Amino acid sequence: MSILKKHSLIEKNATLLLIGSLFVVTIGGLVEIAPLFWLQNTIEKVEGVRPYSPLELAGRDIYVREGCYTCHSQMIRPFRDEVERYGHYSLAAESMYDHSFQWGSKRTGPDLARVGGRYSNEWHVQHLIEPRKVVPESVMPSYAFLMNAPLSTATIADNLKANVLLGVPYTQEMLDNALVDIKAQADPDADTTALLARYPKAKVGDFDGNPQVLSEMDALVAYLQMLGTLVDFSTYDQSPKSR
Ligand code: HEC
Repeated sequence: MSILKKHSLIEKNATLLLIGSLFVVTIGGLVEIAPLFWLQNTIEKVEGVRPYSPLELAGRDIYVREGCYTCHSQMIRPFRDEVERYGHYSLAAESMYDHSFQWGSKRTGPDLARVGGRYSNEWHVQHLIEPRKVVPESVMPSYAFLMNAPLSTATIADNLKANVLLGVPYTQEMLDNALVDIKAQADPDADTTALLARYPKAKVGDFDGNPQVLSEMDALVAYLQMLGTLVDFSTYDQSPKSR
C-alpha cells in the first residue's frame, strides 16, 4: 500500500481522522504547556522592582475602588507612537506584584504606567479635586472627597499579609512595620530612613497639602507618583521593538 492510500484511509474514517487530529494538536499543546510545570517563573527579574510600600498599596486599592481603570490603562505597548508619548514600553516584571494587574486597554484618559514624577503632588491634588481647572477639556470626574476621607490604616498589615499569600515577598520586618511605614511616608517630620531602606525610591513627604491629616488623597497621590519609577531605564535600550 502506498503512502497515499494510507492517507485516504484516514480521510475516509471519521474516528481515525479524529484520533489523528487530536494527536497532532497534542504535540503543539505539550510543547507550549509542559515547560510551564518546570519553570520557576515566567517573568524575567528586573532590577529595581519591589513590592508596594504600605501607603502606595493603600493608594492602589483606592485606585481600584474608584474604578480609575475604567478609563486608564497601565501598559505601554512596544510601538513607536506609545513609546514616544509615554516612555519605555512596560515590562512584565513591573506589574509582577500587582494583584490584580491594571494593564487594561480602555483609554478614555492617557496610560498611567509611567505617570510617576511627571507632575508635582500639587498638580495631582488639584487635578483630582477638579480636573477641568487643570485641563479645561477633561471628561474625568472630580475626586475632591478624597481630601476629606481619612485613610483607614487598621487593616494595612493584614493587607500586606494577604499579598504574601499571593506571592508578594513582603518580609516579616515589612509586616511588623506596616502601620509605622504607612504613617511615616506621608509625614514630613518623620524619620524615613528605615522606610526607604525597606522600599527604595519611595516618595516621602506630605502629598495632599495638609500634613495634619493622613487622607485617601495622600495614598492615591503616593501611588501615582511611584508608577513607572522603579526601573532605571537609562540602562535599557530605548528604541521600540520593530514588529
Ligand atoms: C471617565 C473617565 C475617567 C476616569 C474614571 C478617571 N479618569 Fe483620569 N483622566 C481621564 C481623561 C479624559 C484624562 C485626560 C484629561 C485630563 O488630564 O484631565 C485623564 C487624566 C488623568 C491623569 C493625567 C495623566 C497625564 O499623563 O496627563 C491622571 C494622573 C489621572 N487621570 C488619574 C486618574 C485617577 C487616579 C482616577 C481615579 C481616581 C482617574 N484618573 C479616573 C479620564 C478619566
